[in-house]
Amino acid sequence: MRSTPQGRFPALTGLPADFVFGAATAAYQIEGAHDEDGRGPSIWDTYCREPGRTAGGATGDIACDHYHRYREDIALLRELGVDSYRFSVAWPRVQPTGTGPADPRGLDFYDRLTDELLAAGISPAATLYHWDLPQALEDRGGWRVRETAERFAAYAAVTADRLGDRVHRWITLNEPFCSAFLGYATGRHAPGAREGRGALAAAHHLLVGHGLAVRALRAADPSGAARIGITLNPDRLLPATGSPADRAAARRAETLHNETWFDPLFAGRYPRGEAETWGELAGGGHRRDGDLALIGAPLDFLGINYYRPLTVAEAPHHDPDPAARTATDIRVAELPRDDVRLTTMGWPVDPHALTDLLLDLTARYPELPPLLITENGSAEADTVTGDGRIHDTERVAYLSDHLAALAEAVRAGVDVRGYYVWSLLDNFEWARGYEQRFGIVRVDYATQRRLPKDSYHWYRDLITAHRGHQ
Ligand code: NOJ
Repeated sequence: MRSTPQGRFPALTGLPADFVFGAATAAYQIEGAHDEDGRGPSIWDTYCREPGRTAGGATGDIACDHYHRYREDIALLRELGVDSYRFSVAWPRVQPTGTGPADPRGLDFYDRLTDELLAAGISPAATLYHWDLPQALEDRGGWRVRETAERFAAYAAVTADRLGDRVHRWITLNEPFCSAFLGYATGRHAPGAREGRGALAAAHHLLVGHGLAVRALRAADPSGAARIGITLNPDRLLPATGSPADRAAARRAETLHNETWFDPLFAGRYPRGEAETWGELAGGGHRRDGDLALIGAPLDFLGINYYRPLTVAEAPHHDPDPAARTATDIRVAELPRDDVRLTTMGWPVDPHALTDLLLDLTARYPELPPLLITENGSAEADTVTGDGRIHDTERVAYLSDHLAALAEAVRAGVDVRGYYVWSLLDNFEWARGYEQRFGIVRVDYATQRRLPKDSYHWYRDLITAHRGHQ
């Protein structure tokens, strides 16, 4: 494989010539049209309507109105020159109650989207679950129950049946850490539960759902064209000090954030530190014989979302009432950083942690498939200046430095095949509502006008430069 210096972008030296450059979004964050064409409510529709859950009571009812404006958004992608676009399919559009026959109107939308992308020369990468569980399934227990995993596989099958002749890159789950632990332990995400065993059962059933969906996607792809993976958000965990207490806290955080996912998926075992991390909450009757083999079915790639490292220390105290203990009460405190710049999310900008994370994961899990960075980006306080433009120099620096950190890992031998910027558009940032802007294109929510930022033009030039050297 040929790889060459990048002219204006020397830090990218070493990326393979066929490296995929992309941009990413997710259904609930951009589509809007929450009750159109038969779409059923998801847990996020419910959650957003509960007082105090999201900043300013924001919802995804309208979001970027992408459901109606997808052609304009794909024109922006074409102009940007990306090889691939990562979007997510909304389960409650395909099956409004999460079960039964597909609503053709929901699938029609993704059918049109796919065709429009292909006509623009952009390869679709579809995520099947980016957090919008049909509410009807939550009412039956949600991810706490195994039935949801089985329903998920059935939904994967009907979606692949309709799109699989043209969509060849599938991501089963996006960041199951967030679905399980923010959804069922901290309550910061839908459905807003705060549980111990329920959250650990959810983590397991998400993985089982992934395994069943992989099986369904392979069965729907007799030609073998499909490339199937999962997207995780492993954390680079830095102990605040070298003290034994902080190092032990970092190990517990390692179990929660990383090993819960990587061990079953890529090492054929349940997380080694689970007893130390969760004590009597660990294990549980939700595990069945054969689950590890199902979860560990070979994948074609692993998607990694990376934003920032976490500094952790032993928490000074923890909830003394064992009955009220949630799965994230593991006596770990996340500490703020003051040695680096913070984005408007309050996240430390530390690109080198990406290099370290990739090297560390590759060393610890020899069975990892090739990697794709399926998200990376930064929320910034963008302003439209007098010239009508957005000079988001901090975002450009963030993206540039993280791509350089990624290229460094590639030069050190890590097999990374692509990179998707989060996000194409400013969008609904979950509990943080519309206050956080991650887009390389600004969305004026009052008018739905799209305005490419300097980072958009910078990314377009980078992609052109990379191609120019092939
Ligand atoms: C990861 C999630 O997948 C995405 O939905 C979110 O907007 C970004 N992180 C930024 O927080």
